[in-house]
Amino acid sequence: MSVRHFLEVDDLNAGELAQILTASSGSPPTQVLKGLGVALLFEKPSARTRHSMEIAVVQLGGHPVSITGDEVGIDQRESAEDIARTLGCYHAAIGARVYHHTVVERMAAASPVPVINLLSDRAHPLQALADLLTIQQVFGEIDGRRIAYVGDPNNVARSLAIGAGLMGAEFIIASPGGYRFDSSDLNRIAKSGRAAQQVEDPGRAVDGAHVIYTDVWVSMGQESEAEEKRSAFAGSYTVDDRLMRRATPDAIFMHCLPAHVGWEVTEEVLHGPSSRIWLQAENRMHAARGLLTFLLRHQ
Ligand code: CP
Ligand code: NVA
Repeated sequence: MSVRHFLEVDDLNAGELAQILTASSGSPPTQVLKGLGVALLFEKPSARTRHSMEIAVVQLGGHPVSITGDEVGIDQRESAEDIARTLGCYHAAIGARVYHHTVVERMAAASPVPVINLLSDRAHPLQALADLLTIQQVFGEIDGRRIAYVGDPNNVARSLAIGAGLMGAEFIIASPGGYRFDSSDLNRIAKSGRAAQQVEDPGRAVDGAHVIYTDVWVSMGQESEAEEKRSAFAGSYTVDDRLMRRATPDAIFMHCLPAHVGWEVTEEVLHGPSSRIWLQAENRMHAARGLLTFLLRHQ
C-alpha cells in the first residue's frame, strides 16, 4: 500500500473522516507508535499544535522530536525533499508547519513515511479535524448544521469548509469584497460534497447558524498586509454579542486560537457562555491521536 499523507482534509474521504472522528472521541489509545518516533518541524510559532501532537504521540507509545525550521535549514542547509528522506529514516511520521504549502507537498512527494501538514499558508487540516470533532460532540451530528465563518478566508477557513462539506454541513463565509475564496478553492470545497456560500454581510451569514467561527485577520507570514487587512475588516467583521444573538439560541462560538481580542472577536464572546474554544483546544490532542492511528494503520 502507498504512504498516506495528510496535507488537506480531503486527503481523507467522508467515510475515513467520520471513522477518525469516532475514534478520536472515545476509543482508548492503542500503542501504534510503540518504540517509534514522530518528527515535528516548525517554521512558525505554535502552542496548541506542538503540544497536542507531542502528547498524542506519547499517548500512542511513541517519542516526539520537535525542531524549528532554522535547525534543519529548509532549502538552505538541505532541500525539503532530503530533509523528509532523512527524517523518514528514523521516524514513523513527519509533521511540518511551513510558510509555503508547496514545501509540505515536496516533503510528502519524497517521504517514505506519512507527512502531516501542521499548518501552511493554504491549509490547517488538523485544526479542522478538532473543530469537526467539537461540533459533533456539542450537537451530536455535523450533518445539516450551519457553520458561519466571519472573517478572512484563510488556511483555517479553507480546511474547515472542506471538512464541513465532507460531513454534510452548510458553510457560509462573510468577508469584505476583496477577500474571497478563489475559483479553485470553491471547486475543491464543492467537490467535498457541499458548495460554500460567500457573502459580504456578516449578519446574513450568521442568521440561523449553529456555529459562528472566526480566526485572525492577519495570519502568520502576512504581517506586511496587516494595516490593509485591518482596515478592510475592522468595523463590521468583529464577532460580538449582537452578531451572536442573530444565530440559533444554542449556537456556539469557535476560534482556533490564538485570538486578537477587540479585532475579530470581543472579550465577552471569546470567554462567554457560548464559547467552546477550550473544548476545541483539547480536541486538537484527541483528533491528532485519531489521525496518527489512522495513518499508521493505512500504509
Ligand atoms: N490553533 C493552532 O494551530 O494553534 P497554534 O498556532 O498555537 O499551534
Ligand atoms: N490563520 C492563522 C491560524 C493560526 C493557528 C495563521 O495561519 O496564523
